[in-house]
Amino acid sequence: MSGHSTYEPKSNVSKWFDERLPVVRLMHDSFVAFPTPRNLNYLWTFGGILVFCLVAQLVTGIILAMHYVPNDQMAFNSVQHIKRDVNYGWLIQPMHAVGASMFFLAVYIHIFRGLYYGSYKAPREVLWILGVFILLAMMATGFLGYTLPWGQMSFWGATVITNLFSSLDGVIPGLGTAIVTWLWGGFSVGNATLNRFFSLHYLLPFVIFGLVILHVWALHVAGQNNPTGLEIKQPADAVPMYPYAVTKDVFGMFVFLIPFAYFVFFMPDWLGHADNYTPADPLVTPPHIVPEWYFLPFYAILRAIPSKLGGVIAMVSAIVILVFVPWLDTSRVRSCKYRPIFKWCFWAFAFTCLALGYLGAMPAEEPYITWARIFTFLYFAFFLLAMPIVGILETPSKLPRSIMESVLGKPGSTGGHMPAGASAAPEKR
Ligand code: HEM
Repeated sequence: MSGHSTYEPKSNVSKWFDERLPVVRLMHDSFVAFPTPRNLNYLWTFGGILVFCLVAQLVTGIILAMHYVPNDQMAFNSVQHIKRDVNYGWLIQPMHAVGASMFFLAVYIHIFRGLYYGSYKAPREVLWILGVFILLAMMATGFLGYTLPWGQMSFWGATVITNLFSSLDGVIPGLGTAIVTWLWGGFSVGNATLNRFFSLHYLLPFVIFGLVILHVWALHVAGQNNPTGLEIKQPADAVPMYPYAVTKDVFGMFVFLIPFAYFVFFMPDWLGHADNYTPADPLVTPPHIVPEWYFLPFYAILRAIPSKLGGVIAMVSAIVILVFVPWLDTSRVRSCKYRPIFKWCFWAFAFTCLALGYLGAMPAEEPYITWARIFTFLYFAFFLLAMPIVGILETPSKLPRSIMESVLGKPGSTGGHMPAGASAAPEKR
């Protein structure tokens, strides 16, 4: 997609085709010959893992849609029918449900990798922002999908989250209620809601697919970041994507498939909620309405703020703030490897997210509410205080002169220090 093409058609047919539609050339230059930093670690395999997750969700979802019935009287039983009677439904349904969790696990690792190594910094801002749009679309898809089995948690989760729009009544009286009624297609979550949620749940993954194409395109314009945060400056800093990065990606994917398969085959319901095995009942509210685990940190932020509108604003801001990260971080160094203070802010932030996740699963009562407020403050402090201030105050540690030197540890290049892992190579001792 960028730079000089090294593709050479091997036969007359491929030459003829290349002159008319150079799609093979595009693929070759983007995924075979593409220069990849030689020091990428396994955290860089998650982009490929995410592509796998998206395709797996699309394939299993399309098959499920052949048997699923988006009707409030039949939806719950149609899912049970898929799991019990349809050929291989016992496999396809958990692959899709567990797959959603694995997709979010992978995307969170992917985002934290980006935050740690400063992959959002120039020239990768657009790549990062496209990632945030993908995250938003994934969240919408996950939420819509969870309503489809039409269990108790599906119904009440949909009720709680759509009702958040009613907080706009505080801005313009009646506006929020009107939006909620419009979203529902009636005066409560019901058949019309289920139908449109199914339609949108089928549509959005294709929107995600389009965004991923732009995301990968932007990646190929800027080039990949790497653990040092340095750019590729000389040919020795890079290796061709095939076979080096591709082999590593495939290995990473198979390792990722181990926990995935473990959940599908041995604990297919573990990540879900027991209440969703009770058919939706508009007359019985479950004692604790909780979303899927991947929404829990945001749910904790929502409930931490005493006002409904304030909670909604905080929750939405918690995600949208990611868009501004490239400009909030004032450091001239990308990678946390060379940022002695910000590195600790990063780990404190990771802990904050886990704590919020735990608090989101707890009932909305003391002491959890107070803790949720403290961690909500810390969540925003990371972006609004740590990123701009630490970037200015901190003195980065000495950087290697190039990616190659960080790998091979040439004397003098790292100020006499051996790069991590180098001492394991006896010839360099
Ligand atoms: C469906 C979801 C996604 C897919 C399929 C996807 C795909 C990819 C792929 C294939 C790469 C290159 C390989 C790698 O660096 O791991 C990549 C890189 C990147 N992605 Fe994503 N991505 C997704 C979501 C996101 C999200 C939600 C964000 C951030 C909010 C994000 C931010 C980035 C960044 C900053 C890079 C460049 C990393 C670097 O070179 O250091 N991505 N993505």
